[in-house]
Amino acid sequence: MSEPRIIVALDFPAATPALEIVARLDPARCRLKVGKELFTGAGPVLVEQLVARGYGVFLDLKFHDIPNTVAGACAAAAELGCWMVNVHASGGRAMLEAARERLDRRSSRPLLIAVTVLTSLDDTALAEIGFAADSGSLVDRLSALALDCGLDGVVSSPLEIARLRRRFGRRPCLVIPGIRPADATHDDQKRVATPSAAIAAGADYLVIGRPITQAPEPLAALAAIEASFATGAPARG
Ligand code: C5P
Repeated sequence: MSEPRIIVALDFPAATPALEIVARLDPARCRLKVGKELFTGAGPVLVEQLVARGYGVFLDLKFHDIPNTVAGACAAAAELGCWMVNVHASGGRAMLEAARERLDRRSSRPLLIAVTVLTSLDDTALAEIGFAADSGSLVDRLSALALDCGLDGVVSSPLEIARLRRRFGRRPCLVIPGIRPADATHDDQKRVATPSAAIAAGADYLVIGRPITQAPEPLAALAAIEASFATGAPARG
C-alpha cells in the first residue's frame, strides 16, 4: 500500500473521544495530528499511545520561543516518537537552525515543518501587529527563510500550493489544511480546495479533520477521499 497522504486532525478536548475515532481508523491509511487542545487536555501519554498503535503523529504545537527552548521542545517531540513537528518561521533564523540542528543529531527524526503566516490573519491584522508586507509576500519570505535554515517544508493554504511549487520546486514538503470534499460543509474554513485539487496542485500531505472525524463511518469517508486522488473526481465525503 502506498504511503498515507491524509493526516486526520484530532481536534478533541480529551483522550477518550479522540481514541474512539482512532479505533475506527487504520494506521496504514492515515496519520494523525495532535494539536494544542488535545495535547493540553491529554498530554504526551496520548501521543505515546497513538505511536504504539502504529500511527505517524504530527505534533502540531507550533513552537515559537528562544532557540534553546524550541530546540529542546523539538527533541522532546522526537523522544515521543513523533513523525512530524512544527515551529513558527517568524521565530527567526537562530531558532529555526537550533531546532533543525538538534533534530539532526538523532539517528531518526521527525520532519520539521514551518508555519508561515496564520491564515486567520488578514493584511489589516498583520499591519496592526507591525508587519509592513502583505500576507502573500510574508508567506514567500518566511518559507524561503525556513527552507534556507534546512527545514523540511511548510504548512500552507491550498490556494498557495502552486505558487510555492513554482518558487521552491519539488523539494519542500507541503502540508495542507483547509481541505473539503466537493459536497461537504465548509464549517469555519474559508479558503478551501477539494482533496484531489490539492494533490494535483502539488500537496504532499492533506490535513483533514471534521469531514472524517464527524462522518458516520470515518474510514469510509477517508477511503472516498483517497479514491478521489486517483480519479481526479471530487471526493464524496
Ligand atoms: O476540521 P478541519 O478539516 O477544518 O480541520 C483542519 C485542521 O487544520 C485543524 O486542526 C486546524 O486547526 C488546522 N489548520 C487549519 N488552517 C491552518 C492551519 C491549521 O485549518 N491554516
